[in-house]
Order: sequence, then structure tokens, then C-alpha cells
Amino acid sequence: MKELLNPRVRKLQVPGIRQFSNLVSQYPSAVNLTIGQPDFPTPEHVKQAGTKAISQNHTAYTHNAGLLELRKAASDFIGDTYGLEYDPEKEVLVTVGASEALDAAFRTILQEGDEVLIPAPIYPGYEPLIELCGGKTVYMDTTKHDFKLSVDLLKENWTAKTKCVVMNFPSNPTGVVMPEQELRELAWFLQSKDVFVVSDEIYSENIYGKKHVSIASFPGMREKTIIINGLSKSHSMTGWRIGFTFAPSDITEEMVKVHLYNTVCAPTMSQYAAIEALTNGRLDPAMMNEQYMARRDYVEHRLLQMGLDVVKPEGAFYIFPSIQSLGRKSYDFAFELLSKGGVAVVPGSAFSIYGEGYVRLSYAYSVSVLREGLNRMEQFIETSHVVKGDFL
Ligand SMILES: Cc1ncc(COP(=O)(O)O)c(C=O)c1O
Repeated sequence: MKELLNPRVRKLQVPGIRQFSNLVSQYPSAVNLTIGQPDFPTPEHVKQAGTKAISQNHTAYTHNAGLLELRKAASDFIGDTYGLEYDPEKEVLVTVGASEALDAAFRTILQEGDEVLIPAPIYPGYEPLIELCGGKTVYMDTTKHDFKLSVDLLKENWTAKTKCVVMNFPSNPTGVVMPEQELRELAWFLQSKDVFVVSDEIYSENIYGKKHVSIASFPGMREKTIIINGLSKSHSMTGWRIGFTFAPSDITEEMVKVHLYNTVCAPTMSQYAAIEALTNGRLDPAMMNEQYMARRDYVEHRLLQMGLDVVKPEGAFYIFPSIQSLGRKSYDFAFELLSKGGVAVVPGSAFSIYGEGYVRLSYAYSVSVLREGLNRMEQFIETSHVVKGDFL
């Protein structure tokens, strides 16, 4: 029966990150720096709100778009925090994590043959969703621009089939944040184009020493932008599965249909916990950020000491050093580092072809775990037969 299955599905690959974490499980004594989720528990008051929802029998379906109270809380949150205005009745959708928000967004806007421009290296979750819609992913190489997107890159890759531009700042895997002025330039170019922008802002609350600015806040951008956000990273709620889209009512109305035929609604008890997170838990991310920032500085310092080039991350909890001076492909380097050096990092090639020559370390780990991992990595680089020289 296999040949009767949808060829688009059969063509999908298991993500490189997943393949590598399966390998990591075979090395139980390795220090694992691959995980992309906060190492803090969900804040206590948020957990209690979830438990209370269950004990009060809030266990049935909600409105397809999510509890209105939650949509109001989400709308107030991004209004107060980022100065964006979205009508909770018509422009906010509660989804099953940011993943389902992305799926609903792409399925609402894409048709066969549409091209989607994505700055890369990038989170590998977009391409499969685009391919399932019959769309084509076009990666734009940001490695020469400190991993930032530029108008020149958009122009170079633009065709008559360009239907959508994806942005993800702060970025997974680089941690890079677009400076406001450069974001403004992108907006200036995009505002006159007939394209959608899917702006994945899932790390918007994990930003260091800056304020998050959404592309949707620039003139002419709100009507074409679908903001993706959620609580997985900001409130360490990956397992609760709460995400959001914020988009004009004509787009949201269509996305709600895609969402409701897929999932009916996001998990009800999680929606109650989310209300608590967005009302009484607004300062929760700041407490985590304080620690991420100290860890970021520590990890960056250690990598520089090892002689590796690094673009300083300003958000998320990843760092993406270049290993081009070490003469190994990123997968081979990561595999040897794991099997011989006892440290797991994600090969950059898991983040598109433009991630080749880099590895991703997550610093969502305690300083003692990071110290041990980096000690091992340093020793591996110093003592292994990794050849310093031209990148293979
Ligand atoms: C950039 C990016 N977008 C979306 C997601 C998915 O988030 P969620 O767990 O809310 O589905 C992730 C998860 O790692 C991510 O890094």
C-alpha cells in the first residue's frame, strides 16, 4: 500500500535535529546541549491555573478560535508589550502551539507552485509544511550578513511566484535579532508587494537588552502579516501546546476554518493556564532571561577562547558558532564531538544548506552543565585530530 500514500508526505525527511537527538540517546554519558526548550519548570501559578481548570471541569471544547478571555489576554499582552492592536473577537486565534499556527497560516495562504522566501540558516519546521501545501521553499543565504535579512537578499530571490516571506527573529538557530532600522528597510520594500509575511515571533519574550519589534508594526505591514507567537518558550510551556496567530480579520477568518477542521480547539485546560501566564505572569520571562543572558555571555566567551567565530546572539537561547576553521563538515564534527568528546550539539546542516559550517548549542542548561560541556568541547578541539585549516 505504501505506493498509494501521498508522495508529498513520503518525501518528507525526519528533521536533522530529531535524527541527531536519536543518536544522542545512544551516548547516555554525553553532555547534551541540543535541546530547544527552556530548562525551567512552568511557573507555579500557571500550573495551578491549569490544575484548577481541570478540577473545575473546564474540560470541554472551547470556541474554535479559543476562549475569548484568552484572546483578550493575548491581545492586551501584545498591545501593551509591543504596541500592536489586534481585535480579540476577529483577529486572534489560539492554536496548538506555534507549530499548528504555522500550519494553519501556510495552508491558508499557499497554493501549488507558490514560492516562500526564508532567511537561512533557519528552524527546520517551515519547509515540510510548505511542501505539503505544494509550495516551494527558497532559502536566502544570510551567512554573509551576520544572519540578518536584507532588502538585497529579498530582491535577489524574488520571482513572480513569490507569495510569502517567512521571518523568525529572534532566530532559531542563530539567536540574531533584526535591528529596528533594518527591519524598517525590509518593511519599506515589502509594503508595496502583494505577498504575505509569516513572522514567527515565538522567541519575542526571550530578548536581551533590547525591546522586541514586530515587522507588523511598520506602515503597510499589518494587513499582510501573520504573527505567530505562543507560550512554549516565554513561559516554559512546551507541553501545554498553546500558540497564537495575530492577523487582520479577513485572514484570521480563513485560518480559523483550517484550524477548526484540524483540531477543533486548543486544549481547554491549557487555555486557562495561558490566561494566567499572560495576565499575572508577564514578568515570568524576565526571570528566565536574566539567567539566559549570563549563560549566553559565558558560552560566547568560551567559544571565542576556543578560537571559533560567533555572532553574539541577542535573543532565544541558542548560539551558532562557525566551525569552518576546523576542517570538518558540521555533521562529521558533531558526530565526532559526540562519540569521542562526549558532547552533543546540533550540526548546522540541520538548519538548511546554509547552516553547513556551523553548529548550534543551546544554553537552556545550568551553568554547571554548560561548563562541563564546553570543557569537553575545548579539550576535544585541542586534542583531537581535527585539522585547523580550510573548511572541507
Ligand atoms: C522558531 C520556532 N518556531 C516554532 C516552534 C514551535 O513551537 P511550539 O512548541 O509552540 O509548537 C519552535 C520550536 O522549537 C521554534 O524554534
